[in-house]
Amino acid sequence: MDLIIRSATLQGREGRHDIGIRGDRIAAIAPGLPERAAREIDAAGDLVTPALVEIHIHLDAVLTVGDPRHNRSGSLFEGIEIWGERVKSLTHEDVKRRATTALKWMLAHGVTYVRTHVDVCDPTLTALQALLEVREEVAEVITLQIVAFPQQGIYSFPDGEALMARAVEMGVDVIGGIPHYEWTREYGERDVRTALRLAAEYDRLADLHCDETDDDQSRFLELVAAETIRLGLQGRVTASHTTAMHSYNNAYAYRLIRWMRHAGVHVITNPLDNAVLQGRFDAYPIRRGFTRVKELLANGINVCIGHDSIMDPWYPLGVGDPLQACFVMVHYGHMSGRDELETMLDLVTTRAAACFGAEEYGLEEGKRADLVLFDAPTAVDAVRTLAARRAVVSRGRVVAETRPARSTVRWQGREEEVRFLI
Ligand code: FE2
Repeated sequence: MDLIIRSATLQGREGRHDIGIRGDRIAAIAPGLPERAAREIDAAGDLVTPALVEIHIHLDAVLTVGDPRHNRSGSLFEGIEIWGERVKSLTHEDVKRRATTALKWMLAHGVTYVRTHVDVCDPTLTALQALLEVREEVAEVITLQIVAFPQQGIYSFPDGEALMARAVEMGVDVIGGIPHYEWTREYGERDVRTALRLAAEYDRLADLHCDETDDDQSRFLELVAAETIRLGLQGRVTASHTTAMHSYNNAYAYRLIRWMRHAGVHVITNPLDNAVLQGRFDAYPIRRGFTRVKELLANGINVCIGHDSIMDPWYPLGVGDPLQACFVMVHYGHMSGRDELETMLDLVTTRAAACFGAEEYGLEEGKRADLVLFDAPTAVDAVRTLAARRAVVSRGRVVAETRPARSTVRWQGREEEVRFLI
């Protein structure tokens, strides 16, 4: 063995297990492996899961906060204005530098699979070209998927359709869309049809920003589901955000969710951004503006969690940690029930991997060794404490390590360590 993680807690298995890694593969999982390895890590009962998957990020916009100015209102619309100013100074090196920095932050948090959107409403496709290079440069540690994302619309931006086609020819992995942002309902319908036609023609996945608004009349998701079925793309199409579903009447939502299940549409919810961006037009009571995660999961639809933005004009916070998004999701989505808490981590691991189409993914013998060792014994503790990632293994190598903080309290003449575990 090249690497053994000893005495780990694994989800869904009793007791402690050793994980033996040879080359880039998981070679064995068993209690007390007799072999030795060049490097051994004692998990001491802490949790090991498959790598985290960042399923929704905009790497072309990350780390631009405050440049050229801060978003004073915090609204989506001021964010779009500021981004419109910032893109004018976008360069190849600028995009590569910021994207690479953000990817290092994510890797330190255990992320080895990333799906990034890239704005293709740019006649020079500068950001796309830069991210295609980044995809190659990080391939030894991170599998990066690139989505052609028409930020200003396929039909509301000059030559939008031609730019989408060029982006596909240049080698994007996933076709995007933004139907609710197009100028008219009709343009929005064409946006959906074109995105899914391109996905079918070029054999790519599709992931559309869909109904990211509080407008209960924004109903493009039904067309996404219908076109997915018509084109035979079941399981290959994702709808991101779908926040308008929060505001649909229950009868309509019920009907829609049945069609989504039939179409095998994946849903990505982005609790960090949408917590601060939605509900901005409301007087009290203010809607949460959030897709119906509980109902979708209960109806057998695959839901996963994305980060969306890190320090950009729309979301000024973030450190590239999917656990922060999980933590907010628990609160914002009323998902503090015990079963919900215990499976929350799945929304950034196995469920996100299913959406990603990561075939070598999983904590099983023969799968690729992409793993995370948390500074916590259970998945609930990992989310609750935003536990440090003690070790991150990618392709069988330890590629990131974090020394967990340890607190000491002095009280009543004694000194003791506090680890926030009961
Ligand atoms: Fe997004």
